[in-house]
Amino acid sequence: MFKKILGTIICAAIACAALTGCAGSGKKKVGISMPTQDLQRWNQDGSYMKEKFEAAGYEVDLQYAGNKADVQLSQIEDMINTGSKVIVIAAVEASSLGQALDKAAKKKIPVIAYDRLLMSNENVSYYATFDNYKVGQIQGEFVRDALKLDSTDGPYNIEFTAGDPGDNNAGVFFQGAMDVLKPYLDSGKLVCVSGQTDFDSVATTKWDSATAQARAESIIGSYSNKNIDAWLCSNDSTAQGVVTALDSSYNSAGRNGQWPIITGQDCDIVSMKNMLAGKQTMSIFKDTRTLAERTVIMVNDILAGKTPETNSEYDNKAKQVPSYLCDPVFADINNYKTILIDSGYYSEADLA
Ligand code: GAL
Repeated sequence: MFKKILGTIICAAIACAALTGCAGSGKKKVGISMPTQDLQRWNQDGSYMKEKFEAAGYEVDLQYAGNKADVQLSQIEDMINTGSKVIVIAAVEASSLGQALDKAAKKKIPVIAYDRLLMSNENVSYYATFDNYKVGQIQGEFVRDALKLDSTDGPYNIEFTAGDPGDNNAGVFFQGAMDVLKPYLDSGKLVCVSGQTDFDSVATTKWDSATAQARAESIIGSYSNKNIDAWLCSNDSTAQGVVTALDSSYNSAGRNGQWPIITGQDCDIVSMKNMLAGKQTMSIFKDTRTLAERTVIMVNDILAGKTPETNSEYDNKAKQVPSYLCDPVFADINNYKTILIDSGYYSEADLA
């Protein structure tokens, strides 16, 4: 009899955990699905969110998908089945999670697209991100000003490396930069020797550094005696590939002893070290602490039945997704100490 009662209690506890997400702790569970641990930023996003959600009294189910869309789909389905009350997703592929989003909607589980917009599905409740167009714009303006395109004759040679075609952000970053630089390509002040200026030709699958490096090596090989004055890279992982390619196969003395201007994004430690060594010229600081905090605020509001604060809307091809855009910040050798070290994001030792 006692055994039977105990058994019933255990079964009830398991059912409670599975169905309500209380997992025996009485805490509400939040599922966090991150794309990969290969890139520094997603590790930081994941751990900041875990820390902040736990501090706010939630239980956290944090999973990384190893950059595989099918793995991410089954991880999210698992989060739905094990009682997550809200799911936060940075997608490996923007359009491949529809099946899970529909299941979440059936169970009334709100979904927040984190940093990357979830496309072509109406079951996306909110989007928390940085202003991605502005990221590209800052990169483009930096190249314009660093090459003094408005006050010198040129022409200057430039190459482009963009991000993953499966990530909606990649096209937005590239568009932001191109809207600044295209007039100079059109007028001939900027010359792209490879001729590769459209997104599809310059995209980098999975933002992979080695892929960016291989493409850069073949472009550099075709340059012979010409200088490369600038290389617009959409983020740090692609910039790192380009820097490695230039390191191994480009005689920097060939361009009057100057290293090309190279853009990036994320302020990854590797890229900050490259910057200190003069091999990457700028990056964009997207404070993942801010985005994590914003996401916790959104979840708190949603679960309290309130409408979260938003400051924009993004069209995901199925609906206008109410969005909160955080501000990206320009970073270079002159301000990195203030924005990265003084703010406690990195220590001096991290970048040594
Ligand atoms: C983007 C993200 C960038 C960059 C890239 C590679 O979606 O906004 O910050 O890290 O992915 O992971």
